[in-house]
Amino acid sequence: MSGAKKIAFFDAKKYDREYFDAANKTHGFSIKYFEDRLVPDTAMLARGYDAVCAFVNDRINASVSETLSSYGIKIIALRCAGYNNVDLKAVYGNINVVRVPEYSPYAVAEHALALMMALNRKTHRAYYRVRDNNFSISGLLGFDMRGKTAGIIGTGRIGRVLAGILEGLGMEVLAYDLHPDKDLASGAGAKYVALEELYARADIISLHCPLNKDTEHMINAGAIAAMKKGVMIINTGRGKLIDTKALISGLKQGKVGYAGLDVYEEESEYFFEDLSSSFIADDVLARLMTFPNVLITSHQGFFTSEALRNIADTTLGNLSEFFSGGILKNEICYRCEKEPCLKKQGKRCF
Ligand code: NAI
Repeated sequence: MSGAKKIAFFDAKKYDREYFDAANKTHGFSIKYFEDRLVPDTAMLARGYDAVCAFVNDRINASVSETLSSYGIKIIALRCAGYNNVDLKAVYGNINVVRVPEYSPYAVAEHALALMMALNRKTHRAYYRVRDNNFSISGLLGFDMRGKTAGIIGTGRIGRVLAGILEGLGMEVLAYDLHPDKDLASGAGAKYVALEELYARADIISLHCPLNKDTEHMINAGAIAAMKKGVMIINTGRGKLIDTKALISGLKQGKVGYAGLDVYEEESEYFFEDLSSSFIADDVLARLMTFPNVLITSHQGFFTSEALRNIADTTLGNLSEFFSGGILKNEICYRCEKEPCLKKQGKRCF
């Protein structure tokens, strides 16, 4: 379409095309889908485009920022909520970064529940047994979730939804957040406690805080030592929240009873790709995959049709807002993180 703004869409999968092409009927952008991830070596693909659309494992560092800026690109639209893969300081002043802050907290919270349920009742193992005509239930013993204690770290959009779900199952819900949510605290269900108390009392711990300098490897050897023996750890947040080697050590000692991981700290080489004809060169990931009480999914927490529809609508809406000179309500920038946001004064961040 002549005159239409051109978008270089990185790390594109078939399902992205389907939902973005549908949403684009009301926006009329010209979208070029690249299967490559956006990294320093591939940034040159964006030459001649007006905007870039990126995902969780694209790496927007100083080098990528410099290349995109040299092509006159002024907007990167992340089609995800987390932005730990963007060097906000490097892009600030050159490229606006917008994201999709909320598309379906239910999708991720429900996936966290699915991991808990499967690990508890060992559904992932039962499935293979029955397919092999092995109808024995020995070794598949689970526990009632009712009456057990859950610990939710990070009670933002997703953590809050999960708190409600787990309360509905009759669990006691403990919560920890740097900024406790007054509504959640005043309700009958979740109770905010110190991290130490959460570690000491929770049977199931689920991570829903962002990845940043303070939270990187927050689940480390010390944290695991402070947890209950046999604890279940669920991570649908970001891989680097957990020191994987410490987790493996905890699993080997039986201190960690179960781990449900939708994210992994070195996932970018593997997740979202079909490597069934290849091999796993990452020995840490390969070791993790040997435990019967570890369930790994490939960053699919967000992957529901409702979420994909919302992601496509919001991402293209963000781009339309940029090109029409709007204030970019979903912008995230270095300045916003440090100082009062200029958007409160009805201005763009720079
Ligand atoms: P949110 O921004 O609504 O909530 C995050 C919460 O974490 C906030 O309440 C914040 O105060 C809290 N927090 C920040 N630092 C903390 C710390 N040091 N300790 C404890 N709490 C802290 O974010 P939302 O939408 O709930 O998403 C949470 C995370 O889930 C995202 O940052 C993203 O990394 C991940 N995510 C994963 C997806 C998946 O497909 N697996 C999809 C979407 C998000």
